[in-house]
Amino acid sequence: MKLLVTGGAGFIGSAVVRLAVSRGHDVVNLDALTYAACLDNVASVAGSPHYAFEQADIRDRAALDGIFARHAPDAVLHLAAESHVDRSIDGPDTFISTNVMGTFHLLEAARAYWIGAGRPEGFRFHHISTDEVFGSLGPTGQFTEQTPYDPRSPYSASKAGSDHLVRAWHETYGLPVVLTNCSNNYGPYHFPEKLIPVVILNALAGKPLPIYGDGSNVRDWLYVEDHADALLLVVQQGAVGRSYNIGGENERSNLELVKTLCAILDEKRPKPAGRYADQITFVTDRPGHDARYAIDPTRIREELGWRPSVTVEEGLARTVDWYLANEPWWRALQDRHGVGQRLGVAS
Ligand SMILES: NC(=O)c1ccc[n+]([C@@H]2O[C@H](COP(=O)([O-])OP(=O)(O)OC[C@H]3O[C@@H](n4cnc5c(N)ncnc54)[C@H](O)[C@@H]3O)[C@@H](O)[C@H]2O)c1
Repeated sequence: MKLLVTGGAGFIGSAVVRLAVSRGHDVVNLDALTYAACLDNVASVAGSPHYAFEQADIRDRAALDGIFARHAPDAVLHLAAESHVDRSIDGPDTFISTNVMGTFHLLEAARAYWIGAGRPEGFRFHHISTDEVFGSLGPTGQFTEQTPYDPRSPYSASKAGSDHLVRAWHETYGLPVVLTNCSNNYGPYHFPEKLIPVVILNALAGKPLPIYGDGSNVRDWLYVEDHADALLLVVQQGAVGRSYNIGGENERSNLELVKTLCAILDEKRPKPAGRYADQITFVTDRPGHDARYAIDPTRIREELGWRPSVTVEEGLARTVDWYLANEPWWRALQDRHGVGQRLGVAS
């Protein structure tokens, strides 16, 4: 297949690009290269004849039309977004602009291209979204595909808005769409402003390991390479108009997660004295911090036969190995605007 991947220089998008090229797909990576992007993430495939890069903004309709015309993709995997909740609290504008308006322009460009190509049945517009659109759970229960939307941060509200647009373009115009809502990803190439890389890198630097609130917030952790595998399955075999929740089947509180990371680091890179968990520090909670997210994976498991391949302990060990082996990658990104600062505390 020829896949147009938006946001392919970001964390998850680059995992999709690498996996798709390795499986013999042709990939066009469309990315505006914001602060969150890193072309090194796709360096391993950049020389492949199956890979092309287009620097473009999804809010630029003319650029999008040109890219569809030049590359004639069989499917779009739409991952380009502003993705960091803390940044959405400080500056929601770009979240609304990219996640809502950008998705609108991409849908319109895809629709025009699809109509121009004679409405091919096999064409897919795959929208990648988050479980955060479903809001916050108590100690029990899981999000299913039928859970009503209840977003609570500017980020999740902007993603919910984009999900609604994608469904509307299917119902109204017949655009063949599929949607996925996934839980928290982690793994290699994770931008060093998110919890897991922050903990690994602060631990190595002897800095405090910041835990928001009391660390009781629960997330379902999905290894990014498992997620990329699920996305390639859904874009090829997902039913048109249907959405699939993708989870890691690995719920952990933030405190449990950080303690696990500390134990892995104690084993792989022991400190001269003491243990990494001694660096754990509790900091002011994020405003509106959702208590718990959990995914009911029944649909993707029963309809498409997909399950995650690693436990969170295995995935975290691989992730720590990757950060230990790739210091030049993360050092270069630590200079980017806002990285290493506490964001998202504004009232
Ligand atoms: N990271 C997670 O745990 C997670 C969980 C659920 C859903 N998601 C969703 O998955 C997708 C990818 O997330 P990620 O963590 O890889 O994000 P990321 O921030 O690492 O990467 C986003 C990429 O999109 C690009 N981009 C941003 N604005 C753009 C624009 N206007 N035009 C073109 N490109 C633009 C950036 O340059 C970057 O390369 C997002 O849609 C996000 O909402 C992420």
